[in-house]
Amino acid sequence: MRQPLLTSTTSYQSLRNHAAQAREWQMRELFAQDPQRFERLSAEAAGLFLDYSKNRLDGRTLELLKQLAAERGVERLRDAMFAGEKINLTENRAVLHTALRAPRTRAFELDGQNITADVHAVLDRIKTFSDSVRSGAWLGHTGKPITDVVNIGIGGSDLGPKMVCLALRQFAHPRLAMHFVSNVDGHDMDAALSRVDPETTLFIIASKTFTTAETMMNANTARAWFLQQAPAQSAEQALAKHFVAVSTNVEAIKTFGIDPANMFPFWDWVGGRYSVWSAIGLPVALSVGFGYFNDLLAGAHAMDEHFRTAPIEQNLPMIMGLVGFWNREFLRCASVSIAPYHQDLNRFPAYLQQLDMESNGKRVTRAGDTITDYDTGPVIWGDVGTNGQHAYFQLLHQGTDVTPIDFIAALRPAHEFHKHHAALLANCFAQSEAFMKGKTADEVRQDLAGQPADEIERLVPHKTFPGNRPSNTILMEYLTPATLGALIALYEHKVFVQGALWDVNSYDQWGVELGKVLAKKIEAELNGEARPAQHDSSTNGLIARAKAAV
Ligand code: F6P
Repeated sequence: MRQPLLTSTTSYQSLRNHAAQAREWQMRELFAQDPQRFERLSAEAAGLFLDYSKNRLDGRTLELLKQLAAERGVERLRDAMFAGEKINLTENRAVLHTALRAPRTRAFELDGQNITADVHAVLDRIKTFSDSVRSGAWLGHTGKPITDVVNIGIGGSDLGPKMVCLALRQFAHPRLAMHFVSNVDGHDMDAALSRVDPETTLFIIASKTFTTAETMMNANTARAWFLQQAPAQSAEQALAKHFVAVSTNVEAIKTFGIDPANMFPFWDWVGGRYSVWSAIGLPVALSVGFGYFNDLLAGAHAMDEHFRTAPIEQNLPMIMGLVGFWNREFLRCASVSIAPYHQDLNRFPAYLQQLDMESNGKRVTRAGDTITDYDTGPVIWGDVGTNGQHAYFQLLHQGTDVTPIDFIAALRPAHEFHKHHAALLANCFAQSEAFMKGKTADEVRQDLAGQPADEIERLVPHKTFPGNRPSNTILMEYLTPATLGALIALYEHKVFVQGALWDVNSYDQWGVELGKVLAKKIEAELNGEARPAQHDSSTNGLIARAKAAV
């Protein structure tokens, strides 16, 4: 159904008028005027605490955003998603990653079928398999236990399991080293294979479609490498001990030659970037064990329940979605920086890049109309604190663009270097304070008191910080499987809320197709399998240089 244009809605227009004043506000003053601001503009659920008080907004802003959410039918669309309606309109698919983390007792309906039983049948198989690899009962073809797992996948079939395995390294099995090969660049495969022994390595070929060119090439290379040393007469039995697959495309797995007993299926109603909860999470179960994998799912489910039932003003994903929308739409912030103050979350920004940008990087509405008068998904980027502080925070503090930042931290560390943790948290909180407060020219003058007056005035503009730069802070007690699950689900639902407001389909990704098609053509030309086509002069020139180098 065609929605009215976002900018024509009453609440959008009220927000636009309101924003004209809000742009002039100074957060310093908002804090000074309201001693309860932190209490009023913070919320807690599923083990996560969200402080969104350091944003350029007030109670009226939130009221108008809430009205906009009602006018755009965000809660209605949320309920449709949970109910299994086919809200991915261009692929005619349901969006039910939430069903992957629902307890066994919770029936999820799709086309009149209860899919919970299918989900739990696969989870049971993941448990059996991961238990046996972890215990050492599963043996390689020469009778040795597995020591290394190589996950071959890309995009959602790589970023999720890789990010989670790194984040939960405290819980990892000491015998199992995890490796992730995603890039078609042979250096990636070369680096992984140089570190593993074929007799004790398990390969997971992870691909929702089982057609992704990079993954297929890497899978074939890994198989050829493995077969070089496996006894030719029992190659098939050897492969069965070392290759498993995760996909929705069971036929393609069979064609590849993987033992049907070693296939872990999932379903087309799970988007690639929402698939870490499915069998795509197999590396996680292998690394940390099924119990902790289950805790990850339970943490996400707790966030699902919160998102589904909490009123908007207490609803973390709704709040993050609305505040982010406000920053993007009315304060014209083109990017959002993710700053986990936790080394083990160092792949979280990369994970969120796919989650957010592949979901909301769209320029037509759900009905296919070109969006011309408002902006959609922001650029997502970032790195762990404190490293980012010594690299790009300069631009965030004093550059001409305003970039909202999400600070993420655990209150308690999983190590015993307590001084480090106090220093880490101090930096995290100090940065959000500095972004909010800035430093006025008078404060700089006070700092420089004693120096010659003309020297002070020369330095004042350079040492002044405008401040008034928005940030959220998300805190958890410890980084555990459950809090990590809740954190990922929080961002999934934030992306949902913003997609609903912008009226885009957050669940397709047609934008990646054109490059794939052109790469196939050029690959054939580079390999001499096709005559060089007429490209533009730049592409022709680049191809010619590559051919000359062979
Ligand atoms: O090309 C983009 C994409 O389709 C992502 O959406 C997906 O996560 C990734 O490629 C990998 O796809 P697959 O799991 O089917 O190999």
